[in-house]
Amino acid sequence: MVAGGAIIWCLVMGVAVYAVLGRRRPQSERFADRFILICGIIVPIVTLASLLAFGLTLLPGARAEGPADLRVHVHAEQFWWRVTYEADGQRIETANEIHLPVDAEVEFVLTSADVIHSFWIPPLGGKMDVIPGRTNVLRLTPRSTGTYRGVCAEFCGLSHALMAFVVEVHPPDAFAAWLARTASDASGSAAPFQQAGCAACHTIRGVTETGRSGPDLTHVASRATIAAGILPTSRAAFLDWLIAADEIKPGVHMPTYAMLPRAEIEALADALVALK
Ligand code: CUA
Repeated sequence: MVAGGAIIWCLVMGVAVYAVLGRRRPQSERFADRFILICGIIVPIVTLASLLAFGLTLLPGARAEGPADLRVHVHAEQFWWRVTYEADGQRIETANEIHLPVDAEVEFVLTSADVIHSFWIPPLGGKMDVIPGRTNVLRLTPRSTGTYRGVCAEFCGLSHALMAFVVEVHPPDAFAAWLARTASDASGSAAPFQQAGCAACHTIRGVTETGRSGPDLTHVASRATIAAGILPTSRAAFLDWLIAADEIKPGVHMPTYAMLPRAEIEALADALVALK
């Protein structure tokens, strides 16, 4: 394209110089008509069409054929990512963390609850808008293992900059082990989550499965971060989050629990770090 552009530039400059310095005599109307028809219409159409065709061949298949190796559903919320895997006909939900096997073609099925976001894992490929009422599909193939950071790349509200997610690319067997671990139920008592009201919004598989509006917490303590990439997971982070969620993340739907007795908040933090 640089070579083509250079040739065209030289031709245009040549004509411009001729127009300024060339012989001062009128051209025939026939010559002028032909000149405009050829140089102003035919040449640009042929050149741009062939450059477009050449450019399209350089693009990866916009619509890939055949099923992908793995399908991951990503549903964007305010302001976090609901991530769902399909395994043995079962749907396994997690949040703000995406695990992938290396060298496998992954199909992300992107949907949104109530606001337009843009799903982007910069080291793995292009971004795609996530739009309420639409299902967008993005295919990526991670080529090396490692931990990457994904972000929302479209301004979507107060916590637009606070909805990052972690992407871990594993060797295939490590990915299978992660999926099996994530599919397993949690164990423990539902009482602290029911008393404080957490169960109304959060599911902890095997413990309490009524609430769906908030992130699934089944193995929340095994995720690298809580609150969508904001706080590294720890007991202290769970405490901060329970007490001041709206200060840590403006616009969050999660209410604060600062009004609970301290002992009850500590008990909730203990119960949360146990959800490995
Ligand atoms: Cu979601 Cu910006």
